[in-house]
Amino acid sequence: MGLLIALGVFDLEGLEARMRLGVLTGGGDCPGLNAVIRAVVRRSSRRYDSTVVGFLDGWRGVIENQAMELDIETCRGLLPRGGTILGTSRIQPYSNPGDMDRVRASLAAQSVDGLVVIGGEGTLSCAAQAFEDGLPVVGVPKTIDNDIALTEATFGFDTALGIATEAIDRLHTTAESHDRIMVVEVMGRHVGHIAIRAGMAAGATMTLIPEHPFDIAAVCESLTRRHEHGKYASIVVVAEGAKPIPGTMDIAPDETDEYGHIRLGGISNRIAAEIERRTGYETRVTILGYIQRGGTPSPADRVLSTRFGVAAADAVHDGDFGQMVALQQDRIVRVALSDATAELKLVDDGLYDAAREFFA
Ligand code: F6P
Repeated sequence: MGLLIALGVFDLEGLEARMRLGVLTGGGDCPGLNAVIRAVVRRSSRRYDSTVVGFLDGWRGVIENQAMELDIETCRGLLPRGGTILGTSRIQPYSNPGDMDRVRASLAAQSVDGLVVIGGEGTLSCAAQAFEDGLPVVGVPKTIDNDIALTEATFGFDTALGIATEAIDRLHTTAESHDRIMVVEVMGRHVGHIAIRAGMAAGATMTLIPEHPFDIAAVCESLTRRHEHGKYASIVVVAEGAKPIPGTMDIAPDETDEYGHIRLGGISNRIAAEIERRTGYETRVTILGYIQRGGTPSPADRVLSTRFGVAAADAVHDGDFGQMVALQQDRIVRVALSDATAELKLVDDGLYDAAREFFA
């Protein structure tokens, strides 16, 4: 099989049950990555007597053929451990000419029959393209943002939601004691899944998400009304990708990182300054940042990661490439990577409508 991959061809005819799998973790780290790796290794080795090689630092390890052997022993103790033992990066093989040839060469050198790609939107889009180009890949949806389509959940989201909810719960006391407005910024680059659910779970006064651009004047009017008439302090939850309605508030131009990703994290400072100026109430900011994706996965994420890892190993052994494992109605299914990465999963209108009932 490895040689066939090197030639850009993979033939499913006569595929033997025993295989050699590759696995990589790409994009931002996320609670549950290690649990997926452990499950891929466990299923592959116990059910199929297969072997697994882990590529280091996402696609970089495949491009440069940097890898480590993974077996049941190396995966001991991984289930609750945050981060990824393989390391991760946002490097993608389509950014540099010649890197896809290096990817093919590494997979051949490692005799890999199928590659499990664990990642978010960027990493999985790359996997979808790689499949179109003849690589035998299976995707696993990872991201605390929960924005991958065709799966009801990505692993990491539940942990981040729990951390954000607990943080907002704790901010209530300062808000109430000082009669302040507390602005809390959570992650959510293009979508507001963490913000809307954490806001709802922790009784936020208002939640601003990318799907619904805000009008700062309307936000400040309702906060003032709440403080003056309701005599109650406020907590405003802001997704880092939240945007004002064009023309209603000046914001700093977006900066990008070395991979061309917009560098977010900070809109809440601008919003808080504007709220304080317009309402006259003391306003303070808390940016949760990387705390949301650090540390041990929640029980729900440990279970989801484990189920995804087992299902991904099965998909590879079935030769069902170009698929992503997904959660639908509490069952693990396979969906086409191209469909899953065609567009992002946004916050559902019904959920937003229910949350809005509790605004201000
Ligand atoms: O995609 C997951 C995520 O945590 C986003 O919520 C956030 O915007 C981004 O990663 C941060 O990326 P980086 O780790 O490159 O700063």
